[in-house]
Amino acid sequence: MNSSTLTSDLYCVMGNPVAHSRSPAIHARFAELTGQHLRYERRLIALDGFAQGVRDFIAEGGRGCNITVPFKFEAPALASVCSERVRLAGAANTLSLQPDGSIHADNTDGLGLVADITRNAGVPLQGARVLLVGAGGAAAGVLGPLLQAGVRHITLANRTVAKAEALVASHSALAALQKAELLALSPQAVEGDFDVIINATASSLAGDAVPVPASVLRPGSLAYDMMYGPAAQGFLDWAQAHGAVARDGLGMLVEQAAEAFAIWRGVRPPSAQVLEELRRTPH
Ligand code: ATR
Repeated sequence: MNSSTLTSDLYCVMGNPVAHSRSPAIHARFAELTGQHLRYERRLIALDGFAQGVRDFIAEGGRGCNITVPFKFEAPALASVCSERVRLAGAANTLSLQPDGSIHADNTDGLGLVADITRNAGVPLQGARVLLVGAGGAAAGVLGPLLQAGVRHITLANRTVAKAEALVASHSALAALQKAELLALSPQAVEGDFDVIINATASSLAGDAVPVPASVLRPGSLAYDMMYGPAAQGFLDWAQAHGAVARDGLGMLVEQAAEAFAIWRGVRPPSAQVLEELRRTPH
């Protein structure tokens, strides 16, 4: 038995707000199912106190943390080692706090999205035409892993087109390497339909309509909202009304947590089982 399984290592999720986070329950279940001994807590961090919060957690003996809104963009600056995914996204959601005091940053959001679409929903991304709506932090975090999953084309549609263009520019080398086409447009200018439509905007939170025309959907398209719960409902209803297969982001949440767990513990948890359990017991 590995010595680390004999002690109860400390992990947390840091954010503001963080009370709603389902990460503690997900990681506790992963630990139970894999026989890993760990504690995973919630840490509400002052908006101007992220670096101090991480230092305090290291002083407590913390081994790793997940970072959520609004600190994902601050996290890379604290790290001595950033993964390629962090460099591409400019944001991190997983910090590994090493025994020598160094901090390693990774971003598992995009891996979580790809895993949920391909493994849990059973929709292939290889060769797919994808519409990614939004160009904020959520979109930035998943663009690289979508390209690496072998998609053929991604249209990035955003209200502020300049932000979509900036993401296209920062990912153009990877797109060329993957032989994928990347295009930035305003939502109204999008033409044709897509295999997969991903909503990475906060429009439903604002109570606004989905910002792309329904012609982007065709029967059987996968329409995916990166949010879950009531925040995703407007998008899911819209997608279903137009014959698409609608899916919320609960699976992405579980799969990004599973990737973080695997980075920290070297063990892959049974994420599909935990997702099923969560769906049976809504928050
Ligand atoms: P996140 O980290 O969740 O992505 P963000 O960086 O604030 O948050 O980005 C929010 C995204 O939702 C952006 O793409 C934003 O569009 P702009 O870049 O034009 O601001 C998009 N968004 C927010 N409210 C929207 C609305 N009512 N209609 C359309 N897009 C909206």
